Amino acid sequence: MTAQLIDGNALSKQLRTEVATRAQALKAKGITPGLAVVLVGDNPASQVYVRNKVKACEDSGLHSVLEKYEATMTEADLLARVEALNNDPAIHGILVQLPLPAHIDAQKVIEAISPAKDVDGFHIASAGALMTGMPGFWPCTPYGCIKMLESIGYDLRGKHAVVIGRSNIVGKPMALMLLQKDATVTVAHSRTQNLKALTQQADVIVAAVGKRNVLTADMVKPGAVVLDVGMNRNDEGKLCGDVDFEGVKEVASHITPVPGGVGPMTITMLLVNTLEAAERASK
Ligand code: GUN
Repeated sequence: MTAQLIDGNALSKQLRTEVATRAQALKAKGITPGLAVVLVGDNPASQVYVRNKVKACEDSGLHSVLEKYEATMTEADLLARVEALNNDPAIHGILVQLPLPAHIDAQKVIEAISPAKDVDGFHIASAGALMTGMPGFWPCTPYGCIKMLESIGYDLRGKHAVVIGRSNIVGKPMALMLLQKDATVTVAHSRTQNLKALTQQADVIVAAVGKRNVLTADMVKPGAVVLDVGMNRNDEGKLCGDVDFEGVKEVASHITPVPGGVGPMTITMLLVNTLEAAERASK
């Protein structure tokens, strides 16, 4: 079997067109959806990420501001900036790029963001809303994974989903979203014993560890759907995921490539959340 690709670029394009259309409708009412992206320090990867986020906003007709600060910025000054953005009516979403310099308590900064503007979905109120099925913002990467499953018409009800990884940003919220869609969910992690026995039973596998070849063909049930959240480099320096793509694509029914899979969906869902925040604020 050769799996069908779930193309994150194509799906992103479609969803971003919808965002642009909804943004136009809000603009007609005098509201331009606005995202503030805050970067502290000069982490090269973060600089690329924030540039891509701001560009994606521009391309979809969203207003965006990029605030860049020196790595020496104090925690108090950053908290004051977040508070100012909380009170800025032109800003509907606030994203503080992580990681922050070591002298700043990242969790404290995240908790300072108004939950109504927490388009990253990292605030404890957003996590609680996801856990209880209340309205809130879902973290962008796992939310993108759900959209990818929807795009292939996949019905999660009663299916066994195995999530590999338990981070607050991907693994844990992914498990809660799958549970909300009525899947039976197993969360595996670095201490899990006999991972292969679990993944072999899975109808859906989400690999979100940050390590190459966590999932190989012998671990996958024929016909399973495989989503690869990993972003690693192989020995030749090429971008690759957590999944042994060449092997697993011969067993799975659907698989996301790296690059061009989950990656573009993360920024797309940030746009969706920002638009949603602006729509909610306009009501
Ligand atoms: N750093 C890496 N990914 C992310 C993300 O999705 N949001 C934020 N705020 N920081 C990140």
